[in-house]
Amino acid sequence: MLKIGLIGCGYMGTMHANCYRHIAGAKLAAVADIQRNRAETLAAPAGAEIYVDGAELLSRADVDAADICLPTYLHAKYALSAMEKVKYVFIEKPVALTAEECDLLLEKSRETGCRVQVGQVIRFWDEYAALKKMADSGIYGKTVNANFRRISPRPGWGWENWLCDASRSGGAAQDLHVHDVDFILSLYGKPKKFYSVKNKTGEKNSYINTIMEYEDKAVSAEGTWDLPACHPFEASFRVVFEKAVAEYAGGKLAVYDENGVSYPEMPKKEVSGENFEGGNISDLGGYYNELAYFCERAAKQEEIDRATLKDAAESLKFVLSEIGF
Ligand SMILES: NC(=O)c1ccc[n+]([C@@H]2O[C@H](COP(=O)([O-])OP(=O)(O)OC[C@H]3O[C@@H](n4cnc5c(N)ncnc54)[C@H](O)[C@@H]3O)[C@@H](O)[C@H]2O)c1
Repeated sequence: MLKIGLIGCGYMGTMHANCYRHIAGAKLAAVADIQRNRAETLAAPAGAEIYVDGAELLSRADVDAADICLPTYLHAKYALSAMEKVKYVFIEKPVALTAEECDLLLEKSRETGCRVQVGQVIRFWDEYAALKKMADSGIYGKTVNANFRRISPRPGWGWENWLCDASRSGGAAQDLHVHDVDFILSLYGKPKKFYSVKNKTGEKNSYINTIMEYEDKAVSAEGTWDLPACHPFEASFRVVFEKAVAEYAGGKLAVYDENGVSYPEMPKKEVSGENFEGGNISDLGGYYNELAYFCERAAKQEEIDRATLKDAAESLKFVLSEIGF
């Protein structure tokens, strides 16, 4: 049984704990949160040990893998310690706050041999994975142009409202838009040129729109959380291939081609119908997929080769260059 130590029992920690409940061969063995009641809530169904201090969990708990679901500005500090303790570490996205932190994490992973996966969950999201298959297989020809969009109300659920403090979260650019950037880089690599526009007034990095120029295609990505609480969260894309258009909106993937519109069948969800308070996600979907992959690799002591630390560091550095760091 793979024993997991989870640090950070907020919105994402709760999501992960729910996933582990459904992953055969994995067990939540220890949890830590400075809000003890949160740690207790997640520990109870799993019978996990409870810590208020993540450092204490890492020094005392009997775990095989660590999962860091802390606010972003704390990722590097705890992930660096975790890499000294265990051979498998999962870090929520964005992997860190700065390029320097990314380099420290990469260096530590080389030094310790620790295998690290980052929560760039879109790579495990069924409709996006289906798009990647279409692009890689060339079934509809090459991509001509593409647009990705991720828009949301301001995330109000964070501990001490840390998400709305750009100095701790990096704002919508680093927190939200990084999902699309990471996915675009996984599809097409880095663009030849890019140009980004951001909010001139209001909250720092709460809106970003980037045009990326490749040799043979134009790609754009827009991210914002400048929307009122009543506005629905929306993740969408439209990819124009030479012979078809793939469009994802309202949670549904459609393909338009010379024969009309079709709706590719998605894999059956392993777990669905669980609702979570506060955030904008209604089932375990890609979260289950990414953690099931992480646990499988850790249990078999195999390489992590999806959503790697290197991938995530490159994506974060790209976003930092978009916002001018
Ligand atoms: N992959 C996704 O789609 C997705 C979605 C939401 C959040 N996230 C990421 O997940 C991470 C966590 O975000 P969240 O929404 O769960 O935040 P949150 O504020 O809901 O949870 C953070 C938790 O960490 C605890 N905490 C803070 N400092 C601590 C410390 N020093 N030691 C122990 N516990 C501490 C808080 O008490 C809180 O319970 C962030 O990096 C965020 O960007 C990813």
